[in-house]
Amino acid sequence: MIANTATRYGLVARLFHWTIAVLVLVDIALGLIGKFTPQSGDTVDFLQLLYSSHKTIGITVLFLAVLRVIWAISQPRPVPIHPERRFETFAAETVHWVLYAAIFVLPLSGWVMHSAEVGFAPIWWPFGQNLPFIPKSEGIVVTAATVHWISGIVLAATIAAHISGALKHAVLDRDGTLARMWNGREVGNGATKHVTVNPSLFAAFAVWVFAIGGALTVFAPTYHDVVTPQLPTQKTAGWAVQNGNLSIAITQIGAKVTGDFARWQSTIEYDPETGIGTANVIIDTSSLSLGSVTDQAKGPEFFDIASHAQAVFDAEIAQIDGTKHTATGNLTLVGQSVPIAFDFDLEMKDGIATVSGGTTFDRRDFGMGAAYPDESSVGFSVDVLIELTATLAP
Ligand code: HEM
Ligand code: HEM
Repeated sequence: MIANTATRYGLVARLFHWTIAVLVLVDIALGLIGKFTPQSGDTVDFLQLLYSSHKTIGITVLFLAVLRVIWAISQPRPVPIHPERRFETFAAETVHWVLYAAIFVLPLSGWVMHSAEVGFAPIWWPFGQNLPFIPKSEGIVVTAATVHWISGIVLAATIAAHISGALKHAVLDRDGTLARMWNGREVGNGATKHVTVNPSLFAAFAVWVFAIGGALTVFAPTYHDVVTPQLPTQKTAGWAVQNGNLSIAITQIGAKVTGDFARWQSTIEYDPETGIGTANVIIDTSSLSLGSVTDQAKGPEFFDIASHAQAVFDAEIAQIDGTKHTATGNLTLVGQSVPIAFDFDLEMKDGIATVSGGTTFDRRDFGMGAAYPDESSVGFSVDVLIELTATLAP
């Protein structure tokens, strides 16, 4: 019962098939929900949960796929049920090979994308987040995202064909094709021989060469809107930040401690004519360094980076007077959104905008440092300073 025979899928093969099938279908749904959920301070925690689930399920699929293949090569493959219907057998087997490859290509391209991008939704496992030899690089993120997306389309189309085939056999042909995979019924003539040089294997190979080749050569260079969903590119909006520094200052036992975030991105739209615009700043909280208290600041009591990998500021920019501006909006930190106003000077010279400004918030508004209810060890105020230069994006 556990092993395959020429006419039967054994228990192990069936368990692999249905477990992976369910996980893959769930993961496609999660991926699509993620893709079509607009990103804002309100959705950032939801998206983080969603993508961590998506990635963890995807990695599970990858490991199950390795075990499945090891198992499958040690087993006889059940023979085609209608070998005389040569095209149908060829089509069904091509679909199976495409699916086998998909359960490697999808998770691997996802994992490369995840390794190349900064922070955000972690894979829920203790083995580290990055693949060796994959540097942090936006180019790699876009390329891997394109492969992931095109492979997802190939996978979805192939699954549609696969399920339609299974239903056709169950409803129209009323043969045992589905039952053979569902409850291990014996079906087919065990004396049938598999074709040794399998044209369906070549056909599936061609599908993947075409899909991945197309993704790398044609689509990747033009695939703009998919750079990491969590860190939108600065190119998309009017102004592209050239240099910037995002620093914070707190008071610890009466002394000022300053630090900064190494990784953050902003999408800025601003019209110098009207003095009006919008800004979206996403900060990778794990990139904080705050002198000797860096670890404490990242810990559960304060920035809690394990649960809240990002802070987001979504704001409307308005000119107050001359170079004086203010950005008002919600700052989302450790899952709490609090309205703040960020005052800054904006000077334009030779097409370069220089921004310098700051704000101060009270850590208690975000529930940070509840274990420090007075200011004797950690002050309530947190000063945030931003300095940047930006140019109009092409
Ligand atoms: C069975 C495995 C997987 C399937 C079927 C799958 C499928 C999908 C689909 C359909 C999407 C939405 C379309 C798109 O934007 O590409 C998506 C997005 C995404 N997946 Fe996966 N995925 C899998 C595994 C993984 C793994 C293992 C990771 C990372 C470790 C991952 C990371 C991502 C990310 C970051 C996105 C958003 C990409 C973007 O918006 O450009 N995926 N996935
Ligand atoms: C509700 C959905 C599904 C149904 C009804 C279904 C049904 C079947 C059936 C009836 C077979 C046996 C075909 C035969 O004996 O010729 C089969 C085989 C197979 N299915 Fe599915 N399947 C589903 C989803 C999936 C998904 C999502 C994947 C992969 C991502 C997948 C991958 C495969 C593979 C690789 C085989 C070949 C197994 C082998 O020969 O080792 N299936 N499926």
